[in-house]
Amino acid sequence: MGLVDIFGRIATDLRVSLTDRCNLRCTYCMPADGLPWLPGPQLLTDDEVVRLVRVAVERLGVTDVRLTGGEPTLRPGLVDLVARLAELQPRPRLALTTNGLRLAGLASGLRAAGLDRVNVSLDTLDAARFVALTRRDRLADVLAGLQAAVAAGLTPVKVNSVLLRGVNDDEATALLRWALDAGYELRFIEQMPLDAQHGWRRADMVRADEILAALSTQFTVRPRPGRGTAPAELFEVDGGPGQVGVIGSVSAPFCAACDRVRLTADGQVRNCLFAREESDLRTPLRAGADDDELARRWRAAVRGKHAGHGIDAPGFRQPDRPMSAIGG
Ligand code: 5AD
Ligand code: SF4
Repeated sequence: MGLVDIFGRIATDLRVSLTDRCNLRCTYCMPADGLPWLPGPQLLTDDEVVRLVRVAVERLGVTDVRLTGGEPTLRPGLVDLVARLAELQPRPRLALTTNGLRLAGLASGLRAAGLDRVNVSLDTLDAARFVALTRRDRLADVLAGLQAAVAAGLTPVKVNSVLLRGVNDDEATALLRWALDAGYELRFIEQMPLDAQHGWRRADMVRADEILAALSTQFTVRPRPGRGTAPAELFEVDGGPGQVGVIGSVSAPFCAACDRVRLTADGQVRNCLFAREESDLRTPLRAGADDDELARRWRAAVRGKHAGHGIDAPGFRQPDRPMSAIGG
């Protein structure tokens, strides 16, 4: 039996955070000085990550595995870990979410190890703005990383952008023009209340409808057909084949169709980005639990997943763990 919750949703897409550390300090994510990182002994070892992902694909119906962070390329031995995950049966599709800083040096090795695709986070094409946003002068490294990803065949290369009011919200069309020219698949994602500083304000959030309106000033964007009643996320640009994603995670939540489950770097199952409870798999794992027991605990962890993120509910409280310690 797979990872089914009480609303009948089935989680098949596992996101595994490999570290909560990052080599950027995006202002909407982390304070300048970083965060108190998870202590080393609490992090799952490579063997433990492989064991849990093996249980997930063999017994729980997980078909897609995305490695996230923090910044997953900071994890020592990432390439070997990918190679071990690619040997699992049935083989999961393997993807990586990265800020791209180290991608130029890693892309071909990751591809050879079995990685299928990458998502690179990039919010601005302006070097000075990049410094203001991420507190590091590394735009050139990200751009080199993106090119290396294409050259290595980690395609389609996706780019995720978060627009911030008064910071980079005038860049929507420039980002799309650039992505179409370079052959990257761009997706704008609404900023969610997941920052470590708890500084998110709804009124500051650049909404999906605003992003679409901005794009429409220079492009013809039409929802791609065949999405049923779900709010459109993928749009055809200028008659195709170019496309753009506009993900209204906050204003048009897709929780009802969510197929995701998360494992933190310290071995806790989170059934939602916004979950306020986690289920510890590390302790039973280290105490010698067999695959059956781990699978049983994992199913129980997903079963009680809430219907939605509840950002609009009166009593909404942000989860204690920030995005950087959950994974995207
Ligand atoms: N809301 C939406 N996206 C976020 N990211 C980081 N913090 C947030 C947030 N609060 C994005 C990064 C990256 C991905 C891992 O998550 O920009 O694209
Ligand atoms: Fe690092 Fe991603 Fe947070 Fe930026 S948003 S500091 S790249 S974890």
